[in-house]
Amino acid sequence: MERSLDIFSVAAGLARLAHANDGETYDHGCRMRPVCNLLATRLGLDGEAIERIGVCAQLHDIGKCTLPETVLFKPGRLTPDEYRQMTEHTSSGHGLLRDFGHPWLDCAADAALHHHERFDGGGYPHGIAGVAIPLPARIIAVADVYDALRSERPYKPALDHEKAVNLILRGDDRTNPSHFDPAVLAAFQHGAPAIRQLYDGPAVGA
Ligand SMILES: [Fe+2]
Ligand SMILES: [Fe+2]
Repeated sequence: MERSLDIFSVAAGLARLAHANDGETYDHGCRMRPVCNLLATRLGLDGEAIERIGVCAQLHDIGKCTLPETVLFKPGRLTPDEYRQMTEHTSSGHGLLRDFGHPWLDCAADAALHHHERFDGGGYPHGIAGVAIPLPARIIAVADVYDALRSERPYKPALDHEKAVNLILRGDDRTNPSHFDPAVLAAFQHGAPAIRQLYDGPAVGA
C-alpha cells in the first residue's frame, strides 16, 4: 500500500482547511506562492528550495484561522488589543505547522513565525534582524506587502502595480526599504515586470 503523501497536496489541503471560512486569506496565500517562487528563482536558489518557499508562502498566514472573527473580519482599524491578537497569527501558525515531522513544513512553520520580522529588527514577534531571519520569511515579507498594496480593503483602494512597486522601493509613512533584505528587494525590482504579469496578465498588445 502506498503510504507517502505528496507535500504539495498536503499544503494545499491544509490551506483549504485552515481558510475554509476566509476566502481572502486563502486567495492571498495562493497569489503569494508564484510571486515567492519568482523571487526565489531570481535569488538563484535551486529548484527544490524554490518549490519549498512556494509552499511556505501558501501557508504563511495559516495562524489567522485561530483569530476571532471579530478581529479577522473587522472592516475598520484594529484597537491596540485587537492588533496584539492579530500579531499572534505568527506564533499560532508556527504552532500549527511545527509537528508534522516534514522538513518543508518545518520550514513553513519558521516562515509563519518570522514573516513579519523586519530586516532592520523592527518587526515581530521576536524583533530579530538581517540574516537571522530565515530566507523564506525575508522573501515572503516583500511579496506580502506587495500583495496587500495590490488588494482592496474596506479602508483602502487597491494600488496599481507601478504605485505598489514604487512604494515598496521608496517607502512611505508605514513601509520603508530598511524593512526588507536588500537582496530580496533587488530581486523584486528586477522581477517586477514578471510579477505584474502574474497579477494583471499580459499587457494589451504584448
Ligand atoms: Fe501575516
Ligand atoms: Fe500575509
